[in-house]
Amino acid sequence: MKKKVALVTGSAGFIGSNLVDYLLSKNFHVIGVDNFRTGKKRFIKDQINNKNFLFKKLDLTEKKKFMSLSKYNIDIVFHMAANADVSKGHLNPLTDLKFNTIMTSNVLEYIRQKKIKEIVFCSTGSVYGETKTIPTPENDKFPIQTSMYGASKLACEGLIQAYSEAYNIKSYIFRFVSILGQRYTHGHVVDFYNKLLKNKKKLNILGDGRQKKSYLHVDDCIHAILKAIYSNNRKKINIYNLGLDETITVKESAKTICEYLKLNPKFVYSGGKRGWIGDVPLIKLSTKKIRKIGWVPKNSIKKSIIDTLDYLKNNK
Ligand SMILES: NC(=O)c1ccc[n+]([C@@H]2O[C@H](COP(=O)([O-])OP(=O)(O)OC[C@H]3O[C@@H](n4cnc5c(N)ncnc54)[C@H](O)[C@@H]3O)[C@@H](O)[C@H]2O)c1
Repeated sequence: MKKKVALVTGSAGFIGSNLVDYLLSKNFHVIGVDNFRTGKKRFIKDQINNKNFLFKKLDLTEKKKFMSLSKYNIDIVFHMAANADVSKGHLNPLTDLKFNTIMTSNVLEYIRQKKIKEIVFCSTGSVYGETKTIPTPENDKFPIQTSMYGASKLACEGLIQAYSEAYNIKSYIFRFVSILGQRYTHGHVVDFYNKLLKNKKKLNILGDGRQKKSYLHVDDCIHAILKAIYSNNRKKINIYNLGLDETITVKESAKTICEYLKLNPKFVYSGGKRGWIGDVPLIKLSTKKIRKIGWVPKNSIKKSIIDTLDYLKNNK
């Protein structure tokens, strides 16, 4: 059988590099693209030796260079490249526009010109802003945006849907909660871990520690994406939430990390319901839709935190 050719943007990133591993194990031919803005060379150092993996260092905001990938016959694009840091959007509002919306527009133009038939896009639960509908379903009423990141991702979703309709491209949009697991590089677990290594007696926590969040293991996230693609769904545009039914408060999460490190620091809260401008104090997505097609997550939030800590400990 002919190997499927997948283009993975952001292939040296946390989720992208895990996806590359998975696709290679499933007999895909993978073309990876990254400019190492936040990605790491070490995340793809083993894959580079795989004859089914081709890596191109490219900046996806530079449209002309991107078009140089034209000689490959790509079946599906997994667009993982982004500015994935939700917390700093207000410090430079153009960052999310450039690295999420404009970059996605470039990817879509590439797909249109190359007549590629499928796109997978990583969106975020942040697009629901501070919705009152908990757990939040995919068809929640049109939300008010509270972060540059969420707003830029929602704009990407809009562009993808319009391209799907106009050019008959099948699209899969996944709205994730925060992801944990091997090769994790950004988010509260690594922040708390690093702070505790520096100061064992005190841990500064943003907000009042009562923010409730849901987290998902990167393995469960990737299995969900592949499950959806292979579900024989005939719809042109497919939107799925990805998360767990359970939540954890930031304080509980900090306690889990302290137990793991066998530390008992004083927690010092910066105060307020939100950790930063645009932080959502309660995130819990409804995952009925993805579960209906047979996806079952394997890892609890605690297990995902512990796996992440094991990874951080063993990969200094
Ligand atoms: N990690 C999470 O908790 C989470 C949650 C929701 C959604 N997402 C989304 O999932 C996707 C992957 O996130 P991640 O956590 O792996 O982030 P990441 O920062 O580890 O990966 C993003 C990758 O994109 C690359 N990149 C950025 N700008 C680029 C450019 N101009 N040209 C080429 N490459 C570029 C980076 O170098 C990096 O390797 C992103 O779209 C992110 O928004 C992540």
